[in-house]
Amino acid sequence: MIIPTPIMVLLIAFIGLMLYFLVIANVYGAPFVPTPMRAVKRMLELAKIKPGNVVVDIGCGDGRLAIMADQIYHAQAFGFELSPPIFLYAKLRILFKRIKTKALIAFKDSRYIDLSEVDVVVLFMMPNPLRDFWKKKFEKELPPGARVISYAFSIPGWEPSHTEPPIKEENVGPIYVYKMSEIY
Ligand SMILES: C[S@@+](CC[C@H](N)C(=O)[O-])C[C@H]1O[C@@H](n2cnc3c(N)ncnc32)[C@H](O)[C@@H]1O
Repeated sequence: MIIPTPIMVLLIAFIGLMLYFLVIANVYGAPFVPTPMRAVKRMLELAKIKPGNVVVDIGCGDGRLAIMADQIYHAQAFGFELSPPIFLYAKLRILFKRIKTKALIAFKDSRYIDLSEVDVVVLFMMPNPLRDFWKKKFEKELPPGARVISYAFSIPGWEPSHTEPPIKEENVGPIYVYKMSEIY
């Protein structure tokens, strides 16, 4: 019989925790695939952000959208990331690249954040979680003036106010812009 040592227990707990976050991120969001910078710039342009607007990336990866929303548009920008290694990567990238930003990049499951005071949600999530979870949360919590900017995938059942076509030769996907005032 194998007697588990404290190191083994810690290792198993660590692996279990990582797998847990990986599964949750995939079931309720998407795996880490960064949005191309060209699309990041366009998403933020299309969001029509005013200084001081609250901008949230609900699965921020390395934080690129939140950082640019702060740096270029002077938004109150938040990026939430659920996966510990990706979150750590985002923080280290900011540190080592000496990125100057007031954007708050936080380790958090954004399913549990309150969206009632958010002006702009930016996201890159898979179609199933968009249909089964995020759509309902946005309809319930986002105020009428809010905009939702989705990269790559549309929100099933919602009519976009604008669709930016993909740029196939640059591997850039489509961008869907939604105004909550047109959704209710
Ligand atoms: C496709 S990536 C997009 C990253 C970034 N938004 C970008 O556009 O470059 C999706 C990210 O969302 C994270 N994620 C998925 N579900 C999440 C949740 N419920 N809360 C916070 N982050 C989540 C994943 O770990 C992953 O890093």
